[in-house]
Amino acid sequence: MNSEPADPADRAKALRREIHLHNYRYYVENDPVIADVEYDELLRELEAIEAAHPDLVTPDSPTQKVGAAPIAEFGAIEHTVPMLSLQNVTSEGELAEWEAQLRNHLKDPEADFDFVVEPKLDGVAVEAVYLDGIYTVGSTRGDGVTGEDITEQLKTVRSLPLRLHDGIREIPKRLEVRGEVLMTTAEFEALNRDLLEAGEQTYANPRNLTAGSLKQKDPRVTATRKLDVFFYAVGRADGIEVDYQQVLLEAFTELGLPITRLHRHCRDIAAVAAVIREFEEGRDHLPYEIDGAVVKVDRLADQERLGVRSRSPRWAVAYKFAARQATTVVEDIFVSVGRTGVLTPVAKLAPVPIGGVTVSRATLHNRDEVERLGVLVGDTVLVQRAGDVIPKVVKVIVDRRTGTERPFVWPKTCPECGVRVREDEEEVAIYCPNIGCAAQRKARVRHFGSRGALDIEGLGEKIVDQLVDGGHLGDVADLFTLTLDTVSGLERMAEKSGQNLLDAIEKSKQTTLARFLTALGLRHVGESTARALSRELGSLEAIRAADLDELTEVPDVGPIVAKALRDFFDAEENVRVVDRLLELGVTPRAEALPEAPAESPVSGLRVVFTGKLTRMSRSEAGALVTRLGGKASSSVSKKTDLVVAGPGAGGKRGKAEDLGVPVIDEEEFFNRLGEAAK
Ligand code: IVH
Repeated sequence: MNSEPADPADRAKALRREIHLHNYRYYVENDPVIADVEYDELLRELEAIEAAHPDLVTPDSPTQKVGAAPIAEFGAIEHTVPMLSLQNVTSEGELAEWEAQLRNHLKDPEADFDFVVEPKLDGVAVEAVYLDGIYTVGSTRGDGVTGEDITEQLKTVRSLPLRLHDGIREIPKRLEVRGEVLMTTAEFEALNRDLLEAGEQTYANPRNLTAGSLKQKDPRVTATRKLDVFFYAVGRADGIEVDYQQVLLEAFTELGLPITRLHRHCRDIAAVAAVIREFEEGRDHLPYEIDGAVVKVDRLADQERLGVRSRSPRWAVAYKFAARQATTVVEDIFVSVGRTGVLTPVAKLAPVPIGGVTVSRATLHNRDEVERLGVLVGDTVLVQRAGDVIPKVVKVIVDRRTGTERPFVWPKTCPECGVRVREDEEEVAIYCPNIGCAAQRKARVRHFGSRGALDIEGLGEKIVDQLVDGGHLGDVADLFTLTLDTVSGLERMAEKSGQNLLDAIEKSKQTTLARFLTALGLRHVGESTARALSRELGSLEAIRAADLDELTEVPDVGPIVAKALRDFFDAEENVRVVDRLLELGVTPRAEALPEAPAESPVSGLRVVFTGKLTRMSRSEAGALVTRLGGKASSSVSKKTDLVVAGPGAGGKRGKAEDLGVPVIDEEEFFNRLGEAAK
């Protein structure tokens, strides 16, 4: 610290630079070098100086992100270069056709293109204009020619730099960048919950909520909305020399403009198709929504030669993934009885195709969810289907009500066995208390044979229903006493398929302990807890004999799970079923543990790398630690055993020191590893 009181103008300037740099580290490099609280402190100091000296406030000051005064109307902004849309394709065949058209258009059958594949971000398209590196104007796409002036709203987006980074690349005179503003799925869900609690209208998806946030006339409201932006294209760009789309994206990073970093360079269309498949498979694991992939010819000179049509460029195409939402009508609401007796409300829908599958039912989860949605029989609803997940009702389209809708009334008795249902206040659940209830038995048998459990092929819903209704399955153990006579007598079951089912049942007897535990369907014991129990306790006998203390020592098992396990194995009827299963030849075996890595100086240690490393990247160093039996983690906590800090390390080092966690440098780290690192 300087002992001289700093000149406020100098100090403000230094703070602005420092904060810009931290924003860059955080949003562009994804690698912050100070802790959030330290960042907040810098920002507060700058705010204090600016409050005392209003003349020191600059338009690019990080304090300007909190939102300006409300506006009366949105002005219009004409885009210097139109913001085009994209031609869509929906299959690999259409993608190949698009590529063929590229060659046709150039009348060059030999033409060979490289491509860049980017995720198609499902947000709101915007343009930001930087003059001499300073953010000046922001607009929506509008009709492509004229958009709305959202300069002050866009300014509040957390990852939008107010000043371009001037360390690496020359600052262009005028740069119009285009990208997508979006909200992570997690933020979306949190915000929707808040809106609901405040009694306000919720939004169907993150895109709508993002659009709603950017269209706030009061930018201070936008500022509360935790939006992000990623850039992928330019409009007019004076003073930026690049030849390839891929290089343009790198230039963005160098200028401090965030990009998704998910883009991939491909040498041919087969590689493009493979990347698109990867994107589609991975879409549920991304923190934000993507609705397809955008394929762009990489070389800008080729883009120029290919040119544009009236509304879309020839050199790019959007590969749209199958939509995952659709609207349809709730024809009825009924309850389905699960294996623990809990009644789940299910909406019977007018069949609607979503993502290549016809959906005719969607879960309404429980009583709270029915109330939250306010869904009535006859309502038009928005339904969503993601991956393998059961379709769910996202929202009621209240505007489509006709007045003929009626509320759903919970049954007083179990629809299957007629026994009076009970309420379980704590769990929001309504359940059928009759363990002999056929619906519960059916659900237990279905679960027993399901993929993550004993995986019995051919044991479908219709077969299970017939077996239970025909009195052939009192409990799951009866599966192993079924005869060919019984099975092939079932509807739609020939002798051949009957034998196949018996073979599958026989085969399922040799199983893993984890699958067996899963199959028993204990409350709170899913596949991962079952695996942990198997790994830690090693045998069914040990699990059955373990007391609460022993059980809670298993990772993943807390007091509630431990009690559920104990309750299960203490109940006579369960013991009887489990013993019968074993007598009938079911043999659960604990899987052999993977070989433990040889003892190394980091075995069992939790290590955090921070700052710059010279010998390898941080992620490589992390992989090395994992290989040597340790655990690499990205944040410092009480559980951290060791921090390896390189130059530029900031907050993590400080935190480690505060917590008394040993901090060493890279050289010391590799010295300690010695031979093990080789
Ligand atoms: S490039 C001329 N790249 O998709 C090229 N667009 O249907 C224009 N979009 O309005 C856009 N992710 O909102 C491009 N990686 C990406 C994109 C992307 C999403 C949106 C954008 C555009 C729409 C075109």
